[in-house]
Amino acid sequence: MKDGSLPPPKPEPGHEYPELPERTSLPGYRESAAHCRACDLWKNATQTVFGEGKRTSKVVFVGEQPGDKEDIAGRPFVGPAGRVLDEALEAAGIDRSTVYVTNAVKHFKWRKAGKRRLHEKPGRSEIQACRLWLDAELAILKPRVVVCLGATAAQALISPAFRVTKERGKLIASPLAPHVVATVHPSSILRAYDEAAREEEMRAFIADLRVVARLIADTG
Ligand code: URA
Repeated sequence: MKDGSLPPPKPEPGHEYPELPERTSLPGYRESAAHCRACDLWKNATQTVFGEGKRTSKVVFVGEQPGDKEDIAGRPFVGPAGRVLDEALEAAGIDRSTVYVTNAVKHFKWRKAGKRRLHEKPGRSEIQACRLWLDAELAILKPRVVVCLGATAAQALISPAFRVTKERGKLIASPLAPHVVATVHPSSILRAYDEAAREEEMRAFIADLRVVARLIADTG
């Protein structure tokens, strides 16, 4: 274990990783991940949703897993939570095209509810199996800043005991990157109980992202 978080990547029992690329590159890993069978999540998902962003990105945002829209589009954070993230990034002065956006788990886990596909939280062994891809992304990008969006990413990457509500917006010492910060998941803002609460939570989210913006400005 490199830190207090999950142990090293391991497929679920009876499962295997696909062939890995000979040369380490994001396109190579993206292609391998498309065939990942390290847990069962691929069976109900449309496709693997690998991270997205420039190879030169110095900041990596890590969410939980793709949602319904992302599963269909094959791209991270393009649905409702992505729109909240985009709005907050813009307000904090961070250009999304300069950052890399990915997830701890790269297949959509869901259950059927009538005609809808409802999000289900990924389990520990699914997160551990998927860790191979996130570790590869981080090893290639070598970001200056890693931003965990929500408890799943923070508990997988920082520590299982990590509490986003208590530690949000603070710099966390971690071997992952020179600067690691956690904040809420943008979908939690969509679940706020009324408009006033939504606005308040959005303000707090933007304040956390301003910490990231300052780190970007300071680290160049
Ligand atoms: N929620 C996430 O955690 N990631 C996405 O890509 C979309 C929604």
